[in-house]
Amino acid sequence: MKNIAVIGSGTMGNGIAHAFAQHGYHVTLIDIAAEALKKALATIEKNLSRQVEKGAITEATRAEALTRITTLTDMAAGVKNADLVVEAATENIELKLKIFQNLDAAAPAHTILATNTSSISITRIASATQRPEKVIGMHFMNPVPVMKLVEVIRGYSTSDETTRAVMELSGKLEKTPVEVNDYPGFVANRILMPMINEAIASLYEGVAGVEEIDTVMRLGMAHPMGPLQLADFIGLDVCLSILRVLHDGFGNPRYAPCPLLVNMVQAGHKGVKSGQGFYTYT
Ligand code: CAA
Repeated sequence: MKNIAVIGSGTMGNGIAHAFAQHGYHVTLIDIAAEALKKALATIEKNLSRQVEKGAITEATRAEALTRITTLTDMAAGVKNADLVVEAATENIELKLKIFQNLDAAAPAHTILATNTSSISITRIASATQRPEKVIGMHFMNPVPVMKLVEVIRGYSTSDETTRAVMELSGKLEKTPVEVNDYPGFVANRILMPMINEAIASLYEGVAGVEEIDTVMRLGMAHPMGPLQLADFIGLDVCLSILRVLHDGFGNPRYAPCPLLVNMVQAGHKGVKSGQGFYTYT
Protein backbone atom coordinates (compact mmCIF):
# COMPACT_ATOMS: atom_id res chain seq x y z
CA MET A 1 0.00 0.00 0.00
CA LYS A 2 1.32 3.41 -0.98
CA ASN A 3 -1.55 5.77 -1.62
CA ILE A 4 -4.01 6.61 1.12
CA ALA A 5 -7.11 8.79 0.78
CA VAL A 6 -8.67 10.27 3.92
CA ILE A 7 -12.25 11.55 3.76
CA GLY A 8 -13.01 14.40 6.17
CA SER A 9 -10.45 16.86 7.49
CA GLY A 10 -11.74 17.44 11.04
CA THR A 11 -9.80 16.47 14.17
CA MET A 12 -9.69 12.75 13.36
CA GLY A 13 -9.22 13.13 9.60
CA ASN A 14 -6.28 15.50 9.91
CA GLY A 15 -4.71 13.33 12.61
CA ILE A 16 -5.02 10.23 10.39
CA ALA A 17 -3.55 12.07 7.38
CA HIS A 18 -0.71 13.28 9.64
CA ALA A 19 0.09 9.74 10.87
CA PHE A 20 0.19 8.24 7.35
CA ALA A 21 2.25 11.09 5.86
CA GLN A 22 4.73 10.94 8.76
CA HIS A 23 5.28 7.25 8.03
CA GLY A 24 6.01 7.63 4.31
CA TYR A 25 2.57 7.24 2.68
CA HIS A 26 1.17 9.57 0.03
CA VAL A 27 -2.04 11.03 1.39
CA THR A 28 -4.91 12.72 -0.37
CA LEU A 29 -6.98 14.55 2.22
CA ILE A 30 -10.50 15.15 0.94
CA ASP A 31 -13.21 17.45 2.30
CA ILE A 32 -16.18 19.20 0.71
CA ALA A 33 -15.05 22.49 2.28
CA ALA A 34 -11.82 24.07 0.93
CA GLU A 35 -11.62 26.25 4.04
CA ALA A 36 -11.63 23.13 6.29
CA LEU A 37 -8.75 21.67 4.26
CA LYS A 38 -6.71 24.84 4.74
CA LYS A 39 -7.33 24.69 8.48
CA ALA A 40 -6.46 20.96 8.58
CA LEU A 41 -3.10 21.54 6.86
CA ALA A 42 -2.27 24.30 9.35
CA THR A 43 -3.12 21.92 12.22
CA ILE A 44 -0.96 19.13 10.77
CA GLU A 45 1.94 21.58 10.35
CA LYS A 46 1.55 22.76 13.94
CA ASN A 47 1.38 19.21 15.34
CA LEU A 48 4.40 18.05 13.30
CA SER A 49 6.35 21.06 14.61
CA ARG A 50 5.34 20.12 18.14
CA GLN A 51 6.82 16.64 17.53
CA VAL A 52 10.06 18.21 16.20
CA GLU A 53 10.32 20.44 19.31
CA LYS A 54 9.85 17.39 21.55
CA GLY A 55 12.54 15.50 19.63
CA ALA A 56 10.04 12.82 18.52
CA ILE A 57 10.76 13.41 14.80
CA THR A 58 13.41 15.28 12.81
CA GLU A 59 12.90 18.49 10.86
CA ALA A 60 13.48 16.46 7.65
CA THR A 61 10.65 14.05 8.57
CA ARG A 62 8.35 17.02 9.20
CA ALA A 63 9.21 18.62 5.86
CA GLU A 64 8.88 15.33 3.92
CA ALA A 65 5.55 14.52 5.58
CA LEU A 66 4.14 17.85 4.46
CA THR A 67 5.19 17.25 0.84
CA ARG A 68 3.28 13.93 0.86
CA ILE A 69 -0.12 15.49 1.61
CA THR A 70 -2.37 16.71 -1.21
CA THR A 71 -5.78 18.24 -0.53
CA LEU A 72 -8.85 17.95 -2.76
CA THR A 73 -12.55 18.74 -2.63
CA ASP A 74 -13.49 16.17 -5.31
CA MET A 75 -13.90 12.75 -3.65
CA ALA A 76 -14.12 10.69 -6.87
CA ALA A 77 -10.88 12.22 -8.22
CA GLY A 78 -9.19 11.88 -4.83
CA VAL A 79 -9.72 8.11 -4.49
CA LYS A 80 -8.99 6.98 -8.04
CA ASN A 81 -5.40 5.90 -7.21
CA ALA A 82 -6.00 4.96 -3.57
CA ASP A 83 -4.98 1.57 -2.15
CA LEU A 84 -6.83 2.39 1.06
CA VAL A 85 -9.51 4.94 1.88
CA VAL A 86 -10.09 5.93 5.51
CA GLU A 87 -13.40 7.70 5.98
CA ALA A 88 -13.50 10.11 8.93
CA ALA A 89 -16.57 12.19 8.10
CA THR A 90 -19.26 13.26 10.58
CA GLU A 91 -20.84 10.42 12.61
CA ASN A 92 -24.08 10.28 10.67
CA ILE A 93 -25.26 6.94 9.31
CA GLU A 94 -27.05 8.33 6.25
CA LEU A 95 -24.01 10.40 5.30
CA LYS A 96 -21.68 7.41 5.72
CA LEU A 97 -23.90 5.14 3.61
CA LYS A 98 -23.90 7.73 0.82
CA ILE A 99 -20.12 8.20 1.04
CA PHE A 100 -19.48 4.43 0.88
CA GLN A 101 -21.81 4.02 -2.07
CA ASN A 102 -19.87 6.76 -3.89
CA LEU A 103 -16.49 5.38 -2.81
CA ASP A 104 -17.44 1.95 -4.09
CA ALA A 105 -18.26 3.44 -7.49
CA ALA A 106 -15.14 5.64 -7.70
CA ALA A 107 -12.32 3.61 -6.13
CA PRO A 108 -10.40 0.85 -7.97
CA ALA A 109 -11.54 -2.74 -7.34
CA HIS A 110 -8.53 -3.56 -5.12
CA THR A 111 -9.07 -0.59 -2.77
CA ILE A 112 -9.87 -1.31 0.89
CA LEU A 113 -12.57 0.99 2.26
CA ALA A 114 -12.06 1.67 5.98
CA THR A 115 -14.13 3.79 8.32
CA ASN A 116 -12.95 5.54 11.47
CA THR A 117 -16.46 5.39 12.93
CA SER A 118 -16.55 5.23 16.73
CA SER A 119 -19.82 3.32 16.93
CA ILE A 120 -21.73 2.88 13.66
CA SER A 121 -22.00 -0.75 12.50
CA ILE A 122 -19.29 -1.71 9.99
CA THR A 123 -21.62 -4.38 8.58
CA ARG A 124 -24.30 -1.76 7.90
CA ILE A 125 -21.79 0.57 6.22
CA ALA A 126 -20.43 -2.34 4.14
CA SER A 127 -23.96 -3.11 2.93
CA ALA A 128 -23.89 0.15 0.93
CA THR A 129 -21.09 -1.31 -1.25
CA GLN A 130 -20.58 -4.22 -3.64
CA ARG A 131 -17.35 -5.13 -1.80
CA PRO A 132 -18.30 -5.86 1.82
CA GLU A 133 -15.26 -8.15 2.16
CA LYS A 134 -13.05 -5.08 1.64
CA VAL A 135 -14.85 -2.85 4.17
CA ILE A 136 -13.40 -2.61 7.68
CA GLY A 137 -13.28 -0.39 10.77
CA MET A 138 -10.03 1.42 11.47
CA HIS A 139 -10.77 3.26 14.70
CA PHE A 140 -8.00 5.68 15.65
CA MET A 141 -7.93 7.46 19.02
CA ASN A 142 -7.63 11.21 19.54
CA PRO A 143 -4.99 12.72 19.42
CA VAL A 144 -4.07 10.38 16.56
CA PRO A 145 -0.34 11.24 16.30
CA VAL A 146 0.09 10.35 20.00
CA MET A 147 -2.29 7.47 20.77
CA LYS A 148 -0.90 4.00 20.08
CA LEU A 149 -4.13 2.06 19.51
CA VAL A 150 -5.96 1.25 16.30
CA GLU A 151 -9.14 -0.73 16.99
CA VAL A 152 -9.53 -2.85 13.84
CA ILE A 153 -13.16 -3.87 13.48
CA ARG A 154 -14.22 -6.78 11.30
CA GLY A 155 -17.66 -6.44 9.80
CA TYR A 156 -19.74 -9.57 9.29
CA SER A 157 -18.31 -10.04 5.76
CA THR A 158 -14.81 -8.55 6.15
CA SER A 159 -12.25 -10.99 4.71
CA ASP A 160 -9.15 -12.35 6.45
CA GLU A 161 -7.06 -10.76 3.70
CA THR A 162 -8.48 -7.28 4.33
CA THR A 163 -8.06 -7.68 8.09
CA ARG A 164 -4.45 -8.84 7.70
CA ALA A 165 -3.61 -5.91 5.41
CA VAL A 166 -5.07 -3.34 7.82
CA MET A 167 -3.41 -4.94 10.88
CA GLU A 168 -0.03 -4.84 9.08
CA LEU A 169 -0.52 -1.30 7.90
CA SER A 170 -1.42 -0.10 11.42
CA GLY A 171 1.86 -1.60 12.66
CA LYS A 172 3.73 0.40 10.01
CA LEU A 173 2.26 3.55 11.58
CA GLU A 174 3.96 2.46 14.86
CA LYS A 175 0.54 1.75 16.34
CA THR A 176 -0.73 -1.38 18.02
CA PRO A 177 -3.74 -2.79 16.17
CA VAL A 178 -6.30 -4.84 18.09
CA GLU A 179 -8.80 -6.97 16.15
CA VAL A 180 -12.39 -6.90 17.42
CA ASN A 181 -15.79 -7.90 16.08
CA ASP A 182 -18.64 -5.66 14.99
CA TYR A 183 -21.00 -5.22 17.96
CA PRO A 184 -22.31 -1.94 19.42
CA GLY A 185 -19.49 0.30 20.66
CA PHE A 186 -16.92 -2.35 19.59
CA VAL A 187 -14.57 -2.65 22.63
CA ALA A 188 -13.20 0.87 23.19
CA ASN A 189 -16.50 2.69 23.52
CA ARG A 190 -18.43 -0.19 25.05
CA ILE A 191 -16.13 0.16 28.05
CA LEU A 192 -15.21 3.88 27.94
CA MET A 193 -18.71 5.36 27.52
CA PRO A 194 -20.36 3.60 30.49
CA MET A 195 -17.47 4.89 32.63
CA ILE A 196 -18.03 8.44 31.39
CA ASN A 197 -21.81 8.06 31.84
CA GLU A 198 -21.26 6.85 35.41
CA ALA A 199 -18.99 9.84 36.15
CA ILE A 200 -21.76 12.16 34.88
CA ALA A 201 -24.32 10.27 36.99
CA SER A 202 -22.08 10.72 40.06
CA LEU A 203 -22.09 14.47 39.43
CA TYR A 204 -25.87 14.49 38.72
CA GLU A 205 -26.59 12.65 41.97
CA GLY A 206 -24.37 15.00 43.96
CA VAL A 207 -21.85 12.37 45.00
CA ALA A 208 -19.00 14.78 44.23
CA GLY A 209 -18.07 17.83 42.14
CA VAL A 210 -16.47 17.90 38.68
CA GLU A 211 -12.89 18.38 39.85
CA GLU A 212 -13.27 15.83 42.64
CA ILE A 213 -14.55 13.12 40.26
CA ASP A 214 -11.77 13.80 37.77
CA THR A 215 -9.08 13.89 40.47
CA VAL A 216 -10.20 10.52 41.85
CA MET A 217 -9.85 8.94 38.43
CA ARG A 218 -6.62 10.74 37.46
CA LEU A 219 -4.72 10.10 40.66
CA GLY A 220 -6.49 6.97 41.83
CA MET A 221 -6.56 5.09 38.53
CA ALA A 222 -3.66 6.80 36.74
CA HIS A 223 -5.88 8.01 33.89
CA PRO A 224 -4.20 10.88 31.97
CA MET A 225 -7.48 12.84 32.06
CA GLY A 226 -10.47 12.51 34.38
CA PRO A 227 -13.65 11.14 32.74
CA LEU A 228 -15.45 14.51 32.70
CA GLN A 229 -12.47 16.30 31.12
CA LEU A 230 -12.18 13.42 28.65
CA ALA A 231 -15.90 13.71 27.81
CA ASP A 232 -15.37 17.43 27.07
CA PHE A 233 -12.35 16.52 24.91
CA ILE A 234 -14.28 13.87 22.92
CA GLY A 235 -17.38 16.09 22.63
CA LEU A 236 -20.49 15.67 24.79
CA ASP A 237 -22.65 15.28 21.67
CA VAL A 238 -20.39 12.43 20.48
CA CYS A 239 -20.57 10.74 23.92
CA LEU A 240 -24.37 11.02 23.87
CA SER A 241 -24.67 9.58 20.39
CA ILE A 242 -22.39 6.62 21.24
CA LEU A 243 -24.38 5.90 24.42
CA ARG A 244 -27.55 5.90 22.31
CA VAL A 245 -25.98 3.36 19.94
CA LEU A 246 -25.16 1.13 22.95
CA HIS A 247 -28.61 1.62 24.47
CA ASP A 248 -30.43 0.87 21.18
CA GLY A 249 -28.08 -1.93 20.17
CA PHE A 250 -28.24 -3.92 23.42
CA GLY A 251 -31.68 -2.77 24.62
CA ASN A 252 -30.25 -2.67 28.13
CA PRO A 253 -31.16 0.21 30.51
CA ARG A 254 -27.64 0.21 31.93
CA TYR A 255 -26.52 2.16 28.84
CA ALA A 256 -29.23 4.85 29.13
CA PRO A 257 -27.53 8.27 28.89
CA CYS A 258 -27.60 10.28 32.12
CA PRO A 259 -30.29 13.03 31.92
CA LEU A 260 -27.64 15.64 32.77
CA LEU A 261 -25.67 14.68 29.63
CA VAL A 262 -28.84 14.94 27.52
CA ASN A 263 -29.62 18.38 28.97
CA MET A 264 -26.11 19.71 28.47
CA VAL A 265 -26.06 18.66 24.80
CA GLN A 266 -29.52 20.16 24.24
CA ALA A 267 -28.26 23.41 25.77
CA GLY A 268 -25.36 23.45 23.29
CA HIS A 269 -22.72 22.64 25.92
CA LYS A 270 -20.66 20.18 23.90
CA GLY A 271 -17.30 20.48 25.64
CA VAL A 272 -14.06 21.90 24.23
CA LYS A 273 -15.48 22.53 20.75
CA SER A 274 -18.31 24.76 22.04
CA GLY A 275 -16.22 26.45 24.75
CA GLN A 276 -18.40 24.99 27.53
CA GLY A 277 -18.87 21.54 28.97
CA PHE A 278 -18.04 20.33 32.46
CA TYR A 279 -15.25 22.93 32.26
CA THR A 280 -15.07 26.31 30.51
CA TYR A 281 -12.67 26.77 27.58
CA THR A 282 -11.62 30.18 26.32
N1 CAA B 1 -0.10 15.94 17.72
C1 CAA B 1 1.17 15.64 18.05
N2 CAA B 1 1.59 15.54 19.33
C2 CAA B 1 0.71 15.80 20.30
C3 CAA B 1 -0.64 16.14 20.04
C4 CAA B 1 -1.03 16.19 18.68
N3 CAA B 1 -2.29 16.49 18.32
N4 CAA B 1 -1.28 16.32 21.21
C5 CAA B 1 -0.39 16.10 22.19
N5 CAA B 1 0.81 15.79 21.64
C6 CAA B 1 2.03 15.37 22.35
C7 CAA B 1 2.72 16.48 23.09
O1 CAA B 1 3.64 17.14 22.26
C8 CAA B 1 3.43 15.71 24.21
O2 CAA B 1 4.61 15.07 23.73
P1 CAA B 1 5.77 14.52 24.76
O3 CAA B 1 5.16 13.41 25.56
O4 CAA B 1 6.84 14.05 23.83
O5 CAA B 1 6.14 15.69 25.61
C9 CAA B 1 2.44 14.60 24.53
O6 CAA B 1 1.62 14.45 23.37
C10 CAA B 1 1.62 14.98 25.71
O7 CAA B 1 0.97 16.21 25.43
P2 CAA B 1 0.96 17.47 26.41
O8 CAA B 1 2.23 17.54 27.20
O9 CAA B 1 0.54 18.67 25.62
O10 CAA B 1 -0.26 17.23 27.35
P3 CAA B 1 -0.62 16.00 28.23
O11 CAA B 1 0.57 15.37 28.87
O12 CAA B 1 -1.71 16.53 29.08
O13 CAA B 1 -1.21 14.93 27.20
C11 CAA B 1 -2.95 13.93 25.99
C12 CAA B 1 -2.25 15.24 26.35
C13 CAA B 1 -2.03 13.08 25.16
C14 CAA B 1 -4.18 14.33 25.20
C15 CAA B 1 -3.30 13.18 27.33
O14 CAA B 1 -3.99 14.02 28.20
C16 CAA B 1 -4.13 11.94 27.09
O15 CAA B 1 -3.61 10.88 26.78
N6 CAA B 1 -5.47 12.06 27.30
C17 CAA B 1 -6.40 10.97 27.09
C18 CAA B 1 -6.65 10.82 25.62
C19 CAA B 1 -7.64 9.73 25.34
O16 CAA B 1 -8.14 9.01 26.19
N7 CAA B 1 -7.96 9.61 24.04
C20 CAA B 1 -8.93 8.68 23.60
C21 CAA B 1 -10.25 9.38 23.49
S1 CAA B 1 -11.51 8.29 22.93
C22 CAA B 1 -11.36 8.34 21.27
O17 CAA B 1 -10.58 9.03 20.68
C23 CAA B 1 -12.22 7.43 20.53
C24 CAA B 1 -13.68 7.58 20.55
O18 CAA B 1 -14.29 6.87 19.77
C25 CAA B 1 -14.44 8.48 21.42
